[in-house]
Amino acid sequence: MNEVAFSIDGRELSAPAGTTVLEAALQHGIYIPHLCHHPDLDPAGVCRLCMVHVEGKGLAISCRTPVEPGLVVSTEHPQSDQARRVALELLLVNHPPDCLGCARNTRCELQRATAYIGVDAERMKRLRRTAPDRPIDKSNPFFDLDHNKCVLCGICVRTCDELQGIGAIDFAFRGFNSAISTFADKPIIDSRCVSCGECVARCPVGALAPKRSLPPAREVKTICPYCGVGCGIHLGLRGNQVVGVRGDRDNPVNRGSLCVKGRFGWEFIHSPDRLQHPLIRRKGRFEPATWDEALTTVAERLGGIRAAHGPDALGVLSSARCSNEENYLLQKLTRAALSTNNIDHCARL
Ligand code: SF4
Ligand code: SF4
Ligand code: SF4
Ligand code: FES
Repeated sequence: MNEVAFSIDGRELSAPAGTTVLEAALQHGIYIPHLCHHPDLDPAGVCRLCMVHVEGKGLAISCRTPVEPGLVVSTEHPQSDQARRVALELLLVNHPPDCLGCARNTRCELQRATAYIGVDAERMKRLRRTAPDRPIDKSNPFFDLDHNKCVLCGICVRTCDELQGIGAIDFAFRGFNSAISTFADKPIIDSRCVSCGECVARCPVGALAPKRSLPPAREVKTICPYCGVGCGIHLGLRGNQVVGVRGDRDNPVNRGSLCVKGRFGWEFIHSPDRLQHPLIRRKGRFEPATWDEALTTVAERLGGIRAAHGPDALGVLSSARCSNEENYLLQKLTRAALSTNNIDHCARL
């Protein structure tokens, strides 16, 4: 692809043709405030925070301006500074002022943009309107939607529509009452939403937030254990406790995307109800047993059934959660040791 040479803030840079000014800046470590930009989505150009000045052209929205040969971009220009400041103030006048209790605190793009652009606290006090007081939609078991923190960037709508192909949410109402909503403004649990959480992972502020995840102390890169797709994940840990999961964008299988099980189904890991040793039913009650006892019992019962009714009285169900190697060994055991071809797996259940 053709490389295009241009400059940002006096730095001579280059990027492939078709790259936007915002993408090029971020790729070269130059921060331009942004809310509605996400690398997975086509640019929408709705938040107006990414305003820059282009020599000979004036103000430009950097997320929708492709780099051109000889383009001279300034991220710090009085005109662009004023324009993005006004856009930011218009968002903040209706935004809840308390970040400390917010799930996104310190990882919020609105906070970051505010810290970067800077606002006059006294002026904000005068401008600030009563924050909207819409009830938080807590109907989904895995995440909440707090309309009061929503900046209407539309990333969730585009994610659900363009990436997931579901279209469970969209903009509704008009003017000051504009909000993200479901069909007929029902609670999200009663919509077409499949709880994949892709919108939650991309929301730049605390409007869409997981119910239970905590910021991790460290992360471990691994593979989701739920199905044979094998999506890449980062397990978030505090001590030895798993406190959240995020998709691995570098993994070629899922490129960061996850389904509801992979993203939210991690709490079982520390459940006290998990089986920690084999159980054998004796006189109608499950009792803890050693692996030797359990395996001997299984071998005796399988042998007994085969002796009494023939090998085809047996059937084995394997699991899509096993590795290929484990599934290979199980079919080998079924065919070679149990002498039946009755082997299937759970992927179609
Ligand atoms: S969404 Fe961001 S700016 Fe708003 S309360 Fe949460 S952390 Fe603060
Ligand atoms: S969780 Fe998934 S299906 Fe539900 S609204 Fe978000 S992107 Fe759409
Ligand atoms: S819920 Fe989040 S992603 Fe959706 S429009 Fe509001 S701020 Fe943007
Ligand atoms: S990031 Fe460019 S308009 Fe929102």
